[in-house]
Amino acid sequence: MANSYEMMSARVTAVEQATPQIKRFTLERADGQPLPAFTGGSHIIVQMKGADGRQFSNAYSLMSDPADTSSYQIGVRLEEQSKGGSAFMHQQVEVGTELVISSPNNLFAIDPAAGRHVLIAGGIGITPFLAQLPELRAQGARYELHYAFRSPEHGAFQGELADGPHAQQVRFYVDSLGTSLNLAGLIGGLDADAHVYVCGPKPLIDAVIATAKAQGIPDARVHWEQFAAAPATGGAFTVVLAQSGRELQVEEGMTILQAIEKSNAAQVECLCREGVCGTCETRILEGEAEHFDQYLSDDEKAAQQTMMLCVSRAKGQRLVLDL
Ligand code: FES
Repeated sequence: MANSYEMMSARVTAVEQATPQIKRFTLERADGQPLPAFTGGSHIIVQMKGADGRQFSNAYSLMSDPADTSSYQIGVRLEEQSKGGSAFMHQQVEVGTELVISSPNNLFAIDPAAGRHVLIAGGIGITPFLAQLPELRAQGARYELHYAFRSPEHGAFQGELADGPHAQQVRFYVDSLGTSLNLAGLIGGLDADAHVYVCGPKPLIDAVIATAKAQGIPDARVHWEQFAAAPATGGAFTVVLAQSGRELQVEEGMTILQAIEKSNAAQVECLCREGVCGTCETRILEGEAEHFDQYLSDDEKAAQQTMMLCVSRAKGQRLVLDL
């Protein structure tokens, strides 16, 4: 069931332009205390409030060394299709800005059962791996990072990867230089105890999952993460709120959460609005959901007991929810 988060005030202590589209932000707790411990692959929810009162809430992977909780670092890509959060981070956040952040949660953890860890990053998908690398090294694990990006200027943090302690474990693939990633070659012939992790754009994640399937690698050995709310695609449907008996029409392009908020039909807790935090998890009483979240496991999605109202939709024409 839904994770509970501690919210805290954090101050931005450094901002670095890593590529034309990516900035790295360093955050320290505003009260000077250490930040909560985390493991590689964790994310936090960052809440932002604009001068005009508009609020944004995005999930960002922690990219700093988990051994150091004096600060967190996050990497933020300026999204062309920004819901507002990444533009806010890029245009309005500077050294000294205070933000509200959540305690970390990890949906993309290193699997201790793996005998070898094959990490595949595309673009901004590098960030969770930057926190996993020191963890894997500290554990004495066998690991390798394959990092693909469009052109040399878009390869965020490649300098520190190429020169740092993981240099021997890192390979770069640059589209514009013709050194693209060959997934079949990379994933084919992996040891039976190797696990594959992928983070980046959806086409890369889909390609890794499909390649792993084609190579007969069980799902349990393939881990992926992508932040960015899945678009609310699909036709209109009806939602019935069982506790009040109210019926709402969820139009095409609208989320259930938006329909509930628009009609003031119920109170729903919602922290991230992109299917990551789990706070809007709601019990399904009738009907089936089409799940677009990152929070529920595949088994939980198949069980159709609960759903995330911020991103997931109805499979059919009608859903009855325990609200
Ligand atoms: S608000 Fe975070 S999963 Fe829905």
